[in-house]
Amino acid sequence: MLRVTGVQKTYGKTTAVDNADLHIKKDRCTALIGPNGAGKTTLLSIITGLLKPEKGQVTLSGSQKDRREVIGYLPQFPQFYNWMTGREYIRYAGELFGLSRKVADSRAEELLAVTGLEKSGTKRIASYSGGMKQRLGIAQALVNHPELLILDEPVSSLDPFGRREVIELMEKLKKDTAILFSTHVLGEAEQVSDDVYMMKNGKIIMESTLADLKKNYALPVFLIETKGEIQELAEAFQGENWVEAVELDGGKLRIHAANMTQGRDGVLRLLRDTNALYTKVEAESVSLEDIFVKVMDR
Ligand SMILES: Nc1ncnc2c1ncn2[C@@H]1O[C@H](COP(=O)(O)OP(=O)(O)O)[C@@H](O)[C@H]1O
Ligand SMILES: [Mg+2]
Repeated sequence: MLRVTGVQKTYGKTTAVDNADLHIKKDRCTALIGPNGAGKTTLLSIITGLLKPEKGQVTLSGSQKDRREVIGYLPQFPQFYNWMTGREYIRYAGELFGLSRKVADSRAEELLAVTGLEKSGTKRIASYSGGMKQRLGIAQALVNHPELLILDEPVSSLDPFGRREVIELMEKLKKDTAILFSTHVLGEAEQVSDDVYMMKNGKIIMESTLADLKKNYALPVFLIETKGEIQELAEAFQGENWVEAVELDGGKLRIHAANMTQGRDGVLRLLRDTNALYTKVEAESVSLEDIFVKVMDR
């Protein structure tokens, strides 16, 4: 639905965004991940139209509309009027978009419900927790019924409870709205993302679906649980030429294979040949954080 091509932005000698290409798809949640200073905020500001790139384009596909009508945006450091109530704040945002007071009011009511703030709508923002403020910020970003919601570091400043609140809200919203969000907190990114872009020194250094990433970075490591004699089974694996290492880890066997194919075949064959009383066999999963560290290091 939105394409970024060859976008560049420099501040003095710093190239904040360097020839970035991005393709945001409908019905998908896209994560832009990278360390501090990678250029995420600059790139998102360019996509929203707040900042002009020196080179490159941002284009909406299949729509003649102004980009600002299609995008809802929550900045990295949103400013709230703490003396307002949550409800007043959303109404105010709606009025800024040209909604009449009456329409803005009912939209505020709707969005308080969507973001789980219906009980807090009449309380002053000053009394809100971090997670509540961030959800209010998302409600504000949704006021114009955007097709694409852009969230800059929506969970980075929150404690684990706040993070969970916001991630659960994003999971709910992504069913109806495309989401593009930046983060350097990867545990959460993993939970909601479909597509992933990694950014470093202004450059997009990796793009993939989350599913492909996990497949491509999967390690040939297998976990086995057994009701039988675990030491014996460990020794049997040790004797195989495709096995590189065997670890005994609290009642579990961790088998490091030379590669995925040999590992998969070998594990199953050996379990069968030894009539092992196994209760569980699985390939060890790799986290987005592990992959991120690898990609950033190379
Ligand atoms: N207004 C600005 N003036 C000068 N340098 C800036 C400005 N905004 C960002 N930068 C620089 O651009 C780079 C990218 O920053 P930013 O987009 O905020 O990264 P991120 O959001 O990934 O942390 C950093 O080196 C930062 O110092
Ligand atoms: Mg930033």
